[in-house]
Amino acid sequence: MQNYFSLISFLITLSLLFSCQNNTEKKNRKTKVEIRDSIAKNLFEQKCNVCHDATGKKESEIIAPPFHAVRMVYMKSSMDKNDFIETMKDWTHKPDSTKSLMKPAIKLFGVMPYQKFDDKEIDLILEYVYKTEFPKPKWFDLHQEMHRRGIAH
Ligand code: HEC
Repeated sequence: MQNYFSLISFLITLSLLFSCQNNTEKKNRKTKVEIRDSIAKNLFEQKCNVCHDATGKKESEIIAPPFHAVRMVYMKSSMDKNDFIETMKDWTHKPDSTKSLMKPAIKLFGVMPYQKFDDKEIDLILEYVYKTEFPKPKWFDLHQEMHRRGIAH
């Protein structure tokens, strides 16, 4: 009987140990994703949002469409994540008005200037962009409505 009890308590200790270990592994995995995301966020701020940032800006002050709008248009016209990333990657490496999904933006700001981007950095940025909701500027809904009615670009 005593042996039976010690076997049970041994098994309980063992299962507790395993569950602790699993939790630590899960935490480590999460940290890796978090590190990747924060690198990607920094890259996005430096390489894209210098032009695309619209937070706190008036519509008349922006020099490129807010990323909220860019992401929305690309989400609508993509079949899935892969398609979204590939289409945006193609654009980023070779902006060309004939491939544009945002022709009104070209009328307003001119075609996005060609810049040499690192392929690996773009992969990181676009993974991040796909899963991130960007802030919507205050004036955005009104702009959309006017656009729908043909009053704005
Ligand atoms: C020097 C300023 C500048 C930088 C930096 C910049 N963009 Fe742009 N981008 C623009 C402008 C201006 C437009 C609007 C005109 C257009 O669509 O070509 C634009 C449009 C876009 C579009 C919509 C293209 C279309 O017409 O379908 C995408 C997608 C885009 N940018 C992605 C990016 C990404 C990703 C980065 C960073 C890797 C980036 N941009 C960096 C200026 C910039």
